[in-house]
Amino acid sequence: MLKGKFGWKNHSFLIIVATLAMAVLGLGLHDMGAQVGSTSQITLPNCPEKCGNITIPYPFGIGDKCHYNHPEDGKFYNVSCDSSKVPKYGGLEIDKITVDGEFHVINDISYICYDNNGTKTACSCHRSWIRVTRFAISTTRNVIGAIGCDTYAVFSGTRMSSSSGFVTGCVTGCSNQSDVGTECSGIGCCEVSMPKGVTNISISTRSLNHHRNVQMFNPCSTAFIVAKNHGQSDKLLPYSIKSIITKDVAYFKHQKNLLNPIVYDWTIGRKNCEQAKLDKKHYLCKGNTLCYDLSPHQWGYRCKCKSGFQGNPYLHDCQDIDECAEEKKSGTLCKEPAWCVNTIGSYNCSCPPGYSRGNGTFNDPCIADDKSNDLPIIFKIIG
Ligand SMILES: *[C@@H]1O[C@H](CO)[C@@H](O)[C@H](O)[C@H]1NC(C)=O
Ligand SMILES: *[C@@H]1O[C@H](CO)[C@@H](O)[C@H](O)[C@H]1NC(C)=O
Ligand SMILES: *[C@@H]1O[C@H](CO)[C@@H](O)[C@H](O)[C@H]1NC(C)=O
Ligand SMILES: *[C@@H]1O[C@H](CO)[C@@H](O)[C@H](O)[C@H]1NC(C)=O
Ligand SMILES: *[C@@H]1O[C@H](CO)[C@@H](O)[C@H](O)[C@H]1NC(C)=O
Ligand SMILES: *[C@@H]1O[C@H](CO)[C@@H](O)[C@H](O)[C@H]1NC(C)=O
Ligand SMILES: *[C@@H]1O[C@H](CO)[C@@H](O)[C@H](O)[C@H]1NC(C)=O
Repeated sequence: MLKGKFGWKNHSFLIIVATLAMAVLGLGLHDMGAQVGSTSQITLPNCPEKCGNITIPYPFGIGDKCHYNHPEDGKFYNVSCDSSKVPKYGGLEIDKITVDGEFHVINDISYICYDNNGTKTACSCHRSWIRVTRFAISTTRNVIGAIGCDTYAVFSGTRMSSSSGFVTGCVTGCSNQSDVGTECSGIGCCEVSMPKGVTNISISTRSLNHHRNVQMFNPCSTAFIVAKNHGQSDKLLPYSIKSIITKDVAYFKHQKNLLNPIVYDWTIGRKNCEQAKLDKKHYLCKGNTLCYDLSPHQWGYRCKCKSGFQGNPYLHDCQDIDECAEEKKSGTLCKEPAWCVNTIGSYNCSCPPGYSRGNGTFNDPCIADDKSNDLPIIFKIIG
């Protein structure tokens, strides 16, 4: 008897109901799925997101099927990850890659040391050739300079725009250790500025007087390009100048004491936005994105999500940000009694009925209509 109740007819009825329900809910579910799936996805499908602890976002990728597949430019986004789980880029260790354009690799600082008689005892005199040839040194995210009391540093590279050579440097000296401060002021530490769009950089550290007069407190000179320290004020180095100045040969001979992150600006290819757009097959900026160039001196272009959208703009269309979901947690967008309404690319604050002035934000909160205003509204509705 029971079986009869679940006959073919009933079954198909249930299926129809279920299908209808799914069709009704379908749109909403589909939207949610797309949003969650795409915004969290940062690599091509079936590609590893991480090597060890380091996230590798597309257009970078681990292995040939996972990075940007341009025939000439593709190799510059090729990351390797061996069994030690340390991501490598042409032999350099990668510290961090961000979707918005920072590429941090670990590089050694350059040094030279002398003994009491002014004889060189150790150095990285081979110069520290930085083996990133496609991207430019970030001029805003690094500190570039030298530390020592009888020191000069020379930085040379190539300008992307002209392929011409370029040299800069700085000199610093001091006669008394107590003159060396905590900031890179010019006494015991000097900084150089670098133009945009410089690549193939090498560093050379030298000494004017072979540290003869400062040997007691400063036997070595060092030169560096190092990521600005986020934790401290922008100008400060990740290490103490007062401390580095006293270090001797033994310290510098330990390779691991010399390693620092250095920041490059990564871009796509060598063409700017205007030129790159013409090559539809390889152009990477997806929907709801903006393409932008860094400087006329720098190769390549970048993509970013339009305001109010998020995701990896090189990989898929940027997705609308539901500002109101965030609003529920922070309550900083709309002032009560307004409530938040998400819109594509933005949001609105809605005032309840009876509050016809203001847009519901903190700058322009909803204002209750006073009695004298109520009347015309009622008349309007009735009329
Ligand atoms: C990942 O990070 C954790 C915590 O910072 C650290 O203990 C671990 O060694 C790291 N693993 C790798 C492969 O770098
Ligand atoms: C990417 O790197 C891997 C591992 O180092 C190498 O085998 C491969 O040939 C590289 N691919 C390209 C396109 O350079
Ligand atoms: C410096 O030179 C003197 C005389 O040539 C020598 O006796 C001394 O050992 C040298 N000192 C060092 C640290 O090399
Ligand atoms: C940097 O060096 C590499 C390898 O030597 C070379 O192919 C590239 O053209 C150089 N870049 C510039 C801007 O000169
Ligand atoms: C270095 O400066 C300190 C503090 O100004 C002073 O006491 C000391 O005598 C100076 N040393 C030399 C060698 O001039
Ligand atoms: C958001 O507010 C603007 C300006 O008041 C209005 O033009 C727009 O239609 C509103 N959008 C939604 C989805 O409510
Ligand atoms: C609300 O109004 C203020 C001031 O008139 C304006 O600055 C702000 O952009 C508006 N905000 C929204 C979400 O419409």
